[in-house]
Amino acid sequence: IGRNVYYFDSLSSTNNKAKEMALKEKEGTIIIAEEQTKGRGRLGRNWVSPKGKGIWMSIILKPDMIPSEVAKLTLIGAAAINRGLEAMGINSYIKWPNDILIEDKKVCGILTEMSCELNMINYVIMGIGINVNLDKEDFNRELKDKATSLKLVTGKKIDRKRLIGNILNHLENLYIPFKERGDISKTIRISREKSILIGREIRVITGDKELIGKALSIDDEGQLVVEFKDGRVEKVFSGEVSIRGL
Ligand code: BTN
Repeated sequence: IGRNVYYFDSLSSTNNKAKEMALKEKEGTIIIAEEQTKGRGRLGRNWVSPKGKGIWMSIILKPDMIPSEVAKLTLIGAAAINRGLEAMGINSYIKWPNDILIEDKKVCGILTEMSCELNMINYVIMGIGINVNLDKEDFNRELKDKATSLKLVTGKKIDRKRLIGNILNHLENLYIPFKERGDISKTIRISREKSILIGREIRVITGDKELIGKALSIDDEGQLVVEFKDGRVEKVFSGEVSIRGL
């Protein structure tokens, strides 16, 4: 991963560019942009991506597997980012399935998109957005309470290149055993150890329903196990989760 890197000054969205390039490019190819003019978040939200201040990148993956396995790739990405930050002396938490938080605020999100055909994956685009050196002014009113940057929490400017290197090393280490043997045990261990949800009251939004419960654990397949108010224990495969009171 990361042997082929395409670097752009400005793109609408690195995920969009990666999609255009995915069929002709090799697995592990990376698209990075200094700024995104139409950065995309999950659920059609936009992603603030100011010039030179963050890591806005997409990784092209071509795992030989069925679409339902893709959710696990997001967990692999989150675990790799957590470990990459740790290598820089920065402690973070994973908000299953795709956010990285520090001091209860979001510093990173992952947007995983795929193209598939006949129940097989053509390619997966793992889009990673990390708020590295953003300043207070870069966050609008709505984001101020919910999001932060590595610079704001550590008090110093962070070397983006070093961080990318660290993340890609960990990503490769976690991805290869999964691709080759379906082994995600190491990722699951990290997801549990660094989970910000386990033991907390959460709100789960799946489809049109919103339920309140307590996150109990993450199972071996990466699903979130939740105990709902009525006592039912269920596994949530994917969806939007928020921590109550935050
Ligand atoms: C989220 O938390 O909603 C996911 C945010 C993902 C943002 C990254 S930045 C690089 C890549 N390109 C995009 O347009 N989005 C992802």
